[in-house]
Parts: sequence; C-alpha cells; structure tokens
Amino acid sequence: MNKLSEFVKTADFKSEKHVPVIDCPDAVKAGEWFTVNITVGKEIAHPNTTEHHIAWIAVHFLPAGAKTTLEIGRFEFSAHGQSPIGPNQGPVHTDSSVTVRVKAITGGMIFATAYCNIHGLWESDKTVALV
Ligand SMILES: [Fe+2]
Repeated sequence: MNKLSEFVKTADFKSEKHVPVIDCPDAVKAGEWFTVNITVGKEIAHPNTTEHHIAWIAVHFLPAGAKTTLEIGRFEFSAHGQSPIGPNQGPVHTDSSVTVRVKAITGGMIFATAYCNIHGLWESDKTVALV
C-alpha cells in the first residue's frame, strides 16, 4: 500500500525549481519574533500560468525532541492569469512566496511543503537553534 510520504519529493533548490526555499535565521532567541520567508522558484523560476503553477505552501514546526509537527501556516496562491476571456489572459498573478513571523520557546525544525498542480508535492526543512 502506498503512503503519501512516498510521493513528496525533494532536491537541491539550485537545480530544481519546485523545492521550497526556507530563509530564516539559523539561531533565534527564545520567545522573540523572527521572520521566515519561503519561496518556490527562488533560483530557477517556476511557471505561474493558469495551467501550471504553485497552488499552496504549508509550513510546520517540529519542536526539538517532539514527535509531532505543529502547523505554522498554510498559504494559497489563487491568481494565475485565469480570466473569463481565457487562460493566461487575466490581469493578476500571485507569486509563490510567503513571509510569516514566528516566535518559539524552543529550537526545532521548520518544514515547508509546496504543491505544484502538475508536479505534485515538494518539501524542504531547516533547523533553527536557540541562541
Ligand atoms: Fe511544476
């Protein structure tokens, strides 16, 4: 029997345009706000068309020593050039980049998952330590 996790892909973001890139400090102070930016297509642009686009990014946090992740946020990108006139003729697009402010009382790992409507699920992670 297949598991969803078997279909979640990852790679080096410098050579694969689907991998979400997590930009945030390597170490933070407990209880202080810090900024996490996640971008798909940071090094190699991903298409953003009606037919082929990044639909959403989800962000989770695994506190050090925990066995369950906690969802930080879920971000949907809904404008990809669609229009009553036809595909790719609409006046607006949303880019697959999000910024969220976070504070934590423990270090841990941030996980980002992105969904391309053609190429499926992609993930990456980054460890955040306490100063
Ligand atoms: Fe794609």
